[in-house]
Amino acid sequence: MKPLLEIENLRVTFPTPRGDLEVVRGLSFTLGRERLGIVGESGSGKSMTGRSILKLVRAPGKVTADKLTFDGIDLLTRSERQMRPIRGARISMVMQDPKFSLNPVMTIGEQIAEALLTHQRLPRREVNNRVLTMLESVRIADPERVAKLYPHEVSGGMGQRVMIAMMLIPEPDLLIADEPTSALDVSVQAQVLDIIDELVKRKGMGLIFISHDLNLVSSYCDRILVMNTGEVVEECQAGELMNAKHPYTRGLIASIPRLDETRTELPVLDRSAWAKK
Ligand SMILES: Nc1ncnc2c1ncn2[C@@H]1O[C@H](COP(=O)(O)OP(=O)(O)OP(=O)(O)O)[C@@H](O)[C@H]1O
Ligand SMILES: [Mg+2]
Repeated sequence: MKPLLEIENLRVTFPTPRGDLEVVRGLSFTLGRERLGIVGESGSGKSMTGRSILKLVRAPGKVTADKLTFDGIDLLTRSERQMRPIRGARISMVMQDPKFSLNPVMTIGEQIAEALLTHQRLPRREVNNRVLTMLESVRIADPERVAKLYPHEVSGGMGQRVMIAMMLIPEPDLLIADEPTSALDVSVQAQVLDIIDELVKRKGMGLIFISHDLNLVSSYCDRILVMNTGEVVEECQAGELMNAKHPYTRGLIASIPRLDETRTELPVLDRSAWAKK
């Protein structure tokens, strides 16, 4: 079967007064209908990689690649208008900060309904039912009340669940989830991941799961990319992550705080061992 996503030599560059700054530096990977985790420190280029796939890197940022195809469609040559039927409907992205992604002047129910109606024609009653069912499945206890609220009226954690509902309701082929559960407590986090998992299994959805949480990613994903300063430094099966060999990955593993913690200082990552000049 051909891969869902093929990326070769992806680069994202921002102009700065001191010259161009490359924040994604020649990234390549393919994705099937599987769960791929991307981990790495803050600033390593995880979100920029996700946004590049949807062509959502804003100017003056520039994206180039030798290949960027989704389901055989060349995304590089697609215009803004041609991206519209893909974005949201076939590829969805749960953004890192829901506060910036929800429309402040639309109720939660209206925006979830819109996420569905942009791509399908459905009778109003069915739309309402699907919105309420979706809210329920992201574990919102009283969906009818919450549907009538505006984004500023809900907590960060609930905002994140609303975002997830919005992204899942059109049942995309590929979901890019950027720290989707970081504002949720552990039990809700597990439930939300179950919902995503169900879609991966039932629909054969592909998933790119971006996270700081190595434990979460290694238990939840099939395969993992470790990024450092815009590059993939390690690629492994999820089950092998904790035995990874690369010094950067070892450093990340060593900095996972443990419950039986006795040390007083967290280890500092030593980048000099593998950094490029
Ligand atoms: N508009 C911009 N201009 C210049 N540099 C930018 C801009 N937006 C992002 N960057 C830089 O791009 C790099 C990669 O950012 P990105 O958001 O992809 O990191 P990340 O891995 O998602 O980090 P985090 O874990 O904190 O979300 C960062 O060093 C960031 O400072
Ligand atoms: Mg990010």
